[in-house]
Amino acid sequence: MKVLVIGSGGREHTLCWKIAQSKRVSKIFCAPGNGGTEEIAENIDINPNEIDKLLNFALENSIDLTVVGPEDPLVDGIVNKFKENGLRIFGVDKNSAQLEGSKVFAKQFMEKHGIPTAKYRTYINLDEAINGLGEFDYPVVIKADGLCLGKGVIICQTKEEGIEALNHMMTEKVFGTAGDTIIIEEFLEGIEASLLCFVSNGEIIPMESAKDYKQIFDGDEGPNTGGVGCFSPNPLFNENLEKNIQEEILSKIETGFKDEGLDYNGILFIGLMITKDMPKVLEFNVRFGDPETEVLMPRLKSDIVEIFEKTIDGKLKKEDLVWADRKCVTVVATSGGYPGKYEKGEEIVGLDNLDDDIILFHNGTKRLDGRVYTNGGRVISITSLGDTLEEAKDRIYDNIDKIDFDGMYFRKDIGRI
Ligand code: AMP
Ligand code: GLY
Repeated sequence: MKVLVIGSGGREHTLCWKIAQSKRVSKIFCAPGNGGTEEIAENIDINPNEIDKLLNFALENSIDLTVVGPEDPLVDGIVNKFKENGLRIFGVDKNSAQLEGSKVFAKQFMEKHGIPTAKYRTYINLDEAINGLGEFDYPVVIKADGLCLGKGVIICQTKEEGIEALNHMMTEKVFGTAGDTIIIEEFLEGIEASLLCFVSNGEIIPMESAKDYKQIFDGDEGPNTGGVGCFSPNPLFNENLEKNIQEEILSKIETGFKDEGLDYNGILFIGLMITKDMPKVLEFNVRFGDPETEVLMPRLKSDIVEIFEKTIDGKLKKEDLVWADRKCVTVVATSGGYPGKYEKGEEIVGLDNLDDDIILFHNGTKRLDGRVYTNGGRVISITSLGDTLEEAKDRIYDNIDKIDFDGMYFRKDIGRI
């Protein structure tokens, strides 16, 4: 069968890598892809938001299965459009994608269905929002309602910072219409964890747990990024916590899907804060995480194409997901300056010198005349499986210095719990 993967990051390279292992697949296309996907798929020069072009491509090339990486096309209804045209596509429909596309929608969903989350208020008026700050302790969290490339959350230590953030979103409109409505939210203390789930016919089937490292510097210092390191499983997860999450969060979300008439089929990625009292939901994403995918797919023994197909047909069962009892770690090498300004187009050397048991996923790279160049903030994810976390982590740090590009940076403490 012919598969089309939409997106250009490490997540999409990982999905192509896993899809390529399926005996059922004869050809993979990736739109637009990167320097890594090019090795296993044919890169197609169409961007994820060009839904009509993607649809025409899929129709003209008789694509049997399309897999959507990023959230934007899901929020814009790519799944509805493909299905209307008789195409099979893995991802949530437009209605369901609101759980990521609108933070207000997500918070109201959680409130209505008793899902534990931070206390919040929503505002569409600046003066009322500034007044509203008085109802919260500091730090306080301010969020733009819509999609902001992962930058729409500001944690404010003082009232002055809060007013600045509100002005930033509501007056200067740095996030455009995404900041027309904002949320002021209680700051939750605890440990974050990522729980990715398949949802098939409204039933939530969790994958193994993962821990994402969001801050750019060692010791979780510095600004937030998309994630610069990750490992799975997350040792925080035990039977008690899993039971609690099942009863207090997953079951209630399933009830919510039914009550709201959401025909949820695809991925639900739950960003959790494990507070001292209980796990609470920070946010929902309706897509695979990046770099979570890079540590989950190498541990998944099952054929991912079978899983996609069963999910689309509403027939996926927990037993369909078989996981290797091994640990997986990834360290993301980034361009100097990321998550702020950074250069692109630096040549990457040393990629051929790595040990065989290193799995290399490309995030932001491109290939030109047989050479590989940086093409994004997150550049390359150096990944390894091990019987222990230590083993996987040591293998990565033993290999990472063989890679080089101008400005290359990576955290030295990934894998530390
Ligand atoms: P979100 O996009 O909502 O996940 O927010 C991005 C990041 O901001 C999260 O991964 C957390 O690190 C942080 N964050 C968001 N909401 C809160 C909150 N209520 N309390 C503490 N940290 C938060
Ligand atoms: N690593 C977090 C995300 O994919 O949103």
